[in-house]
Amino acid sequence: MPKRKILVTAALPYANGDIHLGHLVEYLQADFWVRFQKMRGHDCRYVCADDTHGTPVMINARKCGLTPEQLIAEYQAKHTADLSGFEINFDNFYTTHSEENRKLAEEFFGKMKAGGYITEKSLAQNYCPQDKMFLPDRFVKGECPRCHALEQYGDSCEQCGATYTSDELVNPHCSLCSSTPEKKESLHIFFQLEPFREFLAAWVKEHTQKEIANKLEEWLKDRLHDWDISRDAPYFGFPIPGYENKFFYVWLDAPIGYISSTLNLFPEQKEFESYWKSEESELYHFIGKDIVYFHTLFWPAMLKNAGYRLPTRVLVHGFLTVNGEKMSKSRGTFIRARTFLKYIHPRFLRYYYACKLDASANDLDLSMHDFVRRINSDLIGKITNLASRGIQMLSKIGSRLGTLQGEALKLVETAISKSAIIEDHFENRNFSKAMLEIREIADEANRFFDQKAPWKLIGSKPEEAREILTAVINVFRIIAVYLRPVLPSYSDQAADLLAEQPYSWNACREIIRNKKINNYRYLAERITEKDVNSMIEESKKEAAPAAPAMASYEPQAAEITADDFFKIDLRVGKIISAEPVPETDKIMRLTVDLGFETREIFAGIKQAYRAETLIGRLIIVAANLKPKKMKFGTSFGMVCAAGQGGSAIYLLSPDSGAKPGDRIH
Ligand code: 2FM
Ligand code: ZN
Repeated sequence: MPKRKILVTAALPYANGDIHLGHLVEYLQADFWVRFQKMRGHDCRYVCADDTHGTPVMINARKCGLTPEQLIAEYQAKHTADLSGFEINFDNFYTTHSEENRKLAEEFFGKMKAGGYITEKSLAQNYCPQDKMFLPDRFVKGECPRCHALEQYGDSCEQCGATYTSDELVNPHCSLCSSTPEKKESLHIFFQLEPFREFLAAWVKEHTQKEIANKLEEWLKDRLHDWDISRDAPYFGFPIPGYENKFFYVWLDAPIGYISSTLNLFPEQKEFESYWKSEESELYHFIGKDIVYFHTLFWPAMLKNAGYRLPTRVLVHGFLTVNGEKMSKSRGTFIRARTFLKYIHPRFLRYYYACKLDASANDLDLSMHDFVRRINSDLIGKITNLASRGIQMLSKIGSRLGTLQGEALKLVETAISKSAIIEDHFENRNFSKAMLEIREIADEANRFFDQKAPWKLIGSKPEEAREILTAVINVFRIIAVYLRPVLPSYSDQAADLLAEQPYSWNACREIIRNKKINNYRYLAERITEKDVNSMIEESKKEAAPAAPAMASYEPQAAEITADDFFKIDLRVGKIISAEPVPETDKIMRLTVDLGFETREIFAGIKQAYRAETLIGRLIIVAANLKPKKMKFGTSFGMVCAAGQGGSAIYLLSPDSGAKPGDRIH
């Protein structure tokens, strides 16, 4: 088998947020694949880095009273600890804020200019006069133009899911200081993509999954827009040579971070170039489906233009859902890597993800119930049990493996015969299929174990018992080889139990006989729903704002969501006429101008107000209540008031300036 030279990258995490279980879908699948390639004896390297530049990092650092450099150093330490906590083994985890990356970004830009692909245009964008900076859309907040929810970001509404531009927001304001942004012109620098369209259209067909290529084909039918690669000061990033106060947009130097991380790992030019300038090596980018555009359009165009090799494949995966829904902070399913590690062994998440992952870009669901069940029934009940029962039983007759013949030998040979198909599944990233094969091998061995009942033979026919146990332990060993890309420390502990070195892939085709092994030591323990619930509860607490007032929050009535609240169409109304209803001592008949129409509303305010004092008064009306038939007429809405009732009723009114028909938020 010729030795392959392979470079693998995973998307760079932003240096201002924690690693969570969503990130791990990617880092883990790439880690499985890299470990598999390394076990096969290939020269495979896995590089990544922190994505350090951009406005959010700059602003977060300011909020924490740190320089951006200090903030990114803190996150580098956190990310490294979290990722290695999950046994993710990068050959290099670097940073985009490095000299290597600066030089490379300048080189890429220089080549864009030399190729004639750089243009300049003036753009009018949101500018905060108070903070003296241009505001990216995420830093402009306002009222959603569709559902009118308040405090929504300038690109999309978290309440109703609408997407829009910050220009469409109602009452836009700076999220930092609440000032109203101004439109300010400034010069921007663009990379022209259109000249690369034909090349890209042909390239994407061969270098990503079919489903993704089909989508891209749609995009590539139309003219490609020029890509804005500059941002104005203040900005945390690399200055653009030849310009005053202009910086490279974070997405320009982020993917270049793949190259600079490799350069940092291999500073020697020839070795470095064997990865990035040679077609003899292979290059794979693992990415999520949200950043396909950057990796399949901008990035190949940049690489081609700069004279670097193109990726062998861009491997796109889906998002993580938890219990069938988007990760949610309030439900406690937005789980940070660190929080998971506090409650549950990382190998269990590795195993579970492997059981669910394939080569598609479909979303992956972490169902907590299924997670507990699968770990306990498969990894503990089926696989680990082979070792714990087999090795402990063997210790009663001297912890020495015997020989294999007949059925016992056949069982082991069958497990070995699965190596080709399991190899194929790993190579093609069909991890779930590989796991299925492995489970079936374990099932077969458990059936053999139970059928042969070696525990009955230990006293009377110890050598027969030894042969059965030798078979079962050999199958466990083969499984430990197959599982090593997914469960490295588990596999190494297994090897240790069997007095062997960590396994290479070829070890799966060997049989061990007549050999002393070690006494059984713990490999893995069941997990409980309680561990999972504690982790979820802690995640909920982490997500809740730390303000003391919130700590004692106690709903006084059944809790509702903001969505529930926004179902009520609250409007400003103006009382045009008021007339006490003679048949009752409570009710007043009001005629209310709601801007778009005039309504008759019956309100229980007769004891609190004289009719003539109400005329012209602005009130708040629930305007979409089902009309209510009463003895004296139908009420088309409800007037909002505070107080105990009777004469203690206080109508709610808006401040001056509100007009009939205005919506209340
Ligand atoms: O989307 C993200 O989280 C980016 N930080 C990924 C960058 S990947 C690469 F291009 F640098
Ligand atoms: Zn501001």
